[in-house]
Amino acid sequence: MNFIKSATSEGLADADGVTHSEYVNLYRHFAKNRELSIIITGHIAVSREGRPEARCVFLTDGEGYPYKLRTRNLRRMTEAVHSENPSVKIIAQLNHGGRQIPRLQLRKNKTSICCSPIQKKVNKSAFMFKTPNQTPQSCKYIKDQFVIGAKQMEQAGFDGVQIHCAHGYLLHDCIKAGLIQFVMEILTEIKDQCKGILMIKVNADEDNLKFINEAIKIVDIVELSKGSYDNPNDMIENHRSKPAACFIEQHQELTKQKAKICVTGGFHTREEGQNVLMEQICHYVGFGRLYLMPQITKVQRLSFGRMVQALSKFMPLINAGPATIFYEEEQRRIAKKIALKNEDEMKRVGIMWWFVCMIISFFGFQRYNTIRDMTK
Ligand SMILES: Cc1cc2nc3c(=O)[nH]c(=O)nc-3n(C[C@H](O)[C@H](O)[C@H](O)COP(=O)(O)O)c2cc1C
Repeated sequence: MNFIKSATSEGLADADGVTHSEYVNLYRHFAKNRELSIIITGHIAVSREGRPEARCVFLTDGEGYPYKLRTRNLRRMTEAVHSENPSVKIIAQLNHGGRQIPRLQLRKNKTSICCSPIQKKVNKSAFMFKTPNQTPQSCKYIKDQFVIGAKQMEQAGFDGVQIHCAHGYLLHDCIKAGLIQFVMEILTEIKDQCKGILMIKVNADEDNLKFINEAIKIVDIVELSKGSYDNPNDMIENHRSKPAACFIEQHQELTKQKAKICVTGGFHTREEGQNVLMEQICHYVGFGRLYLMPQITKVQRLSFGRMVQALSKFMPLINAGPATIFYEEEQRRIAKKIALKNEDEMKRVGIMWWFVCMIISFFGFQRYNTIRDMTK
């Protein structure tokens, strides 16, 4: 079936950006699901400075200890996926956080530079993020980081990469600021230097049409979705509609190109995804939350839905933060083989999590995962 498990950050790397056995467990779990034709990893930062969150995988250059261990452990994951299901493709999502790196995380990233071509505060969530002070033109090395990252992922056995150009991160800002050529250079170099599948994730917005029309000539799959911290009300908890599917219905000409189109966001059941495929609106449907709850067949607003909606009028970030942390934790439960058993359990844990997550997001507290079980 043309279903994709969209990128969902799993927070399973240690402080060196190295993954361990839980990461392998999680992706083996996804590979067992025969509905999926493509699995995309949670975002992998192309550098330490580009990490949007503490526990995501990040890439480093050179031949030293973290590099070798990281590549070997990622390879263990891709091998596990391929041996579990030889027909599924495993894709690494590469990202740079740009201005969407929380202040506290910037310090952990050992930099104070928050780079983006968009010189304005992140709307309504400015307390969490710094005003950008460097543009990608002046740090051209970012382009090389993406290209080197893509090559490293090839060495680690991935079937390809997805370049994250959505959700308010650095490359999304570049597109918004008219630096389409900069992003196109990254894609062209990766296409020239790597053999695997090349995907992009981009927001389904009219403003991005020019970029989508350019990129579609080069890449293999364009994934359309919605949301950014500029507009948290567009993010996951509010996805009652299917914004990317509506967008592609209005731009059917995009599906006539060589590249395939995937729409992601707001599909609460498999049937909803199947209907869109049967109507031939697009080639693939992407799911985020549905595959993070193995025993649950329908994505529902978490039990604290109404309260969140009321509070989000004053503090839009709570529409995104706690829900994302809740689902991220679900992935860690799958990785530890203690996933929630049914919907009642999910609701109970959901409300508890919401309170915990409110506190975690408020203080920007992020703990490191220090598992070291694959170091030998
Ligand atoms: C826990 C969690 C983590 C996510 N992490 C990423 C990510 O790393 N990269 C990305 O492009 N999107 C990420 N997303 C967004 C999803 O890929 C997807 O676009 C969004 O959840 C909407 O799809 P859904 O309605 O099927 O959940 C994340 C979503 C969730 C719930």
